[in-house]
Amino acid sequence: MALIQTVNLTKRYNEFLAVKDLNLEVEERDIFGFIGPNGAGKTTTIRILATLLNPSAGRAYVDGIDVAKYPYEVKKIIGFMPDSFGMYDGMRLREYLDFFGAAYKIPRKRRRAIIDDVLALTDLTGKADDFVNSFSRGMKQRCCLAKTLIHDPKVLLLDEPASGLDPRARIEFRELVKTLRDMGKTTLISSHILTEMGDMCNKIGIIEHGTLVAAGDFRKILSQLSQTQEIRLVVLDGADKAALVLEQTPGVENVDRSGNEFQFEVQLGHEDLAALHTGLFEAGVRVLFFGEDEGTLEDVFLQVTKGGL
Ligand SMILES: Nc1ncnc2c1ncn2[C@@H]1O[C@H](COP(=O)(O)OP(=O)(O)OP(=O)(O)O)[C@@H](O)[C@H]1O
Ligand SMILES: [Mg+2]
Repeated sequence: MALIQTVNLTKRYNEFLAVKDLNLEVEERDIFGFIGPNGAGKTTTIRILATLLNPSAGRAYVDGIDVAKYPYEVKKIIGFMPDSFGMYDGMRLREYLDFFGAAYKIPRKRRRAIIDDVLALTDLTGKADDFVNSFSRGMKQRCCLAKTLIHDPKVLLLDEPASGLDPRARIEFRELVKTLRDMGKTTLISSHILTEMGDMCNKIGIIEHGTLVAAGDFRKILSQLSQTQEIRLVVLDGADKAALVLEQTPGVENVDRSGNEFQFEVQLGHEDLAALHTGLFEAGVRVLFFGEDEGTLEDVFLQVTKGGL
């Protein structure tokens, strides 16, 4: 049974249709990437799931519970991290977390240990006694995530949680989400950036103009959407030989060379790609890098979402 499910979920703001007949399914322990351009309807959907907004039509369920009918039941099992959040003046991090712990009615005796756990998990232990308002944006984002975890929710709804994080913090954040998955949590996480989701999400849904344009297993979607794969090849030496091998391989197209670096499109299966790699080796080319170009993901995104608000 899906932990998050929407059935023909629709949200209208006056005349404007922000979400149209959306059907989402997120299974237990999924890390589901909810991806779409600005104004696609991600926040609207997430806020409905978080019981903060009523749907105009259709239904949404978290762990089988109808969010519109039983918001208080749903609130207990979700951790919602909004895309923007305020902090409190004159509050230290530990007090801040204690405040939310109390709001979730966690007994005082247990709170201290839980707060220590959450601080450790979000790597904020050293900051426990600092004022939250003095934190940088990235640190505030981490505090907000810590707060989101305080009542040990089953389901995490994270609206662009990584947007203000530096590269290291993003990597750490991805690891944290995976750790939470290993702890049994189910996560829906929104982003504009498809590339960022690859290393973290097992499933994705791409939304545009309130409609789901693609959803399912991350790799499957990619292969469905992009018939061609963009490959980057960097050689230590033998670049001319490499150029010849590429030229002679059927299925290799649009070869773009700059010195020892090549970029080309292939319409090849894994077997053929492996054979191409062997062919380069046998021709005496010393390969430094042979792999899918990161840009492919962005191309897919641009291809699927037509743009325009
Ligand atoms: N309270 C509101 N009243 C009227 N229109 C709204 C309201 N909230 C959102 N919208 C509109 O609904 C659409 C979807 O907005 P939403 O915030 O869900 O998009 P999003 O995918 O989260 O975008 P972003 O990536 O910019 O965060 C947008 O066109 C937006 O202008
Ligand atoms: Mg949004």
